[in-house]
Amino acid sequence: MTTPVIEAHDFRTALGHFCTGVTVVTGMGGDDVPVGFACQSFSALSLDPPLVLFCPGNTSRAWPVIQQAGSFVVNLLAEDQRDLSTTFGSRTADKFAGVSWRAAESGAPILEGALGWIDCTIEAVHDGGDHRIVVGRVTTLGAPRPDRPLLFYRGRYTGTFPERGEAIPAGLSLDAFLTWPVGDDWL
Ligand SMILES: Cc1cc2nc3c(=O)[nH]c(=O)nc-3n(C[C@H](O)[C@H](O)[C@H](O)COP(=O)(O)O)c2cc1C
Repeated sequence: MTTPVIEAHDFRTALGHFCTGVTVVTGMGGDDVPVGFACQSFSALSLDPPLVLFCPGNTSRAWPVIQQAGSFVVNLLAEDQRDLSTTFGSRTADKFAGVSWRAAESGAPILEGALGWIDCTIEAVHDGGDHRIVVGRVTTLGAPRPDRPLLFYRGRYTGTFPERGEAIPAGLSLDAFLTWPVGDDWL
């Protein structure tokens, strides 16, 4: 059987219809220089043990620094943090210029104004074609700002409109959900 050829444009167009949040994955270099890059390929992975994953491209400059450090923070961006996403999504020399942050327990930067942050140690790294699949074990986390998230959809930034949101219908089992508490309110 021949391997089907998937054109990059078609791949991006189809996959671009999957709406995601936007994160900035940060780390601290051995020379105390912070690194970070905008990352949409983030997901919760496991509750027990607590695992998350993200996928850095093989050409990312921040990833080898994060790998060397052995730990990272995933910063969940808010709707008003588009500029941060654009800066960290670029190859600008000093991405942290003018950015307020504090160090997590691991030393990796928690960006001011993030909706939430997840501090992790690297549990495993898998091959993922032209990306890596990085599995992180959660060590500490917080969600200090219950505000609207920044979204990325069809190659553009967008946002949510809570007034149009719908509650999960009664009777739908939430037991298998990783990202919202069952019968409890986290925030
Ligand atoms: C909204 C958005 C989402 C992105 N998602 C990813 C991603 O999931 N994985 C990745 O490797 N790069 C992603 N990028 C691109 C990187 O942020 C970009 O290549 C950056 O320049 C890498 O920085 P670095 O070389 O300093 O690591 C994304 C960029 C933007 C703006």
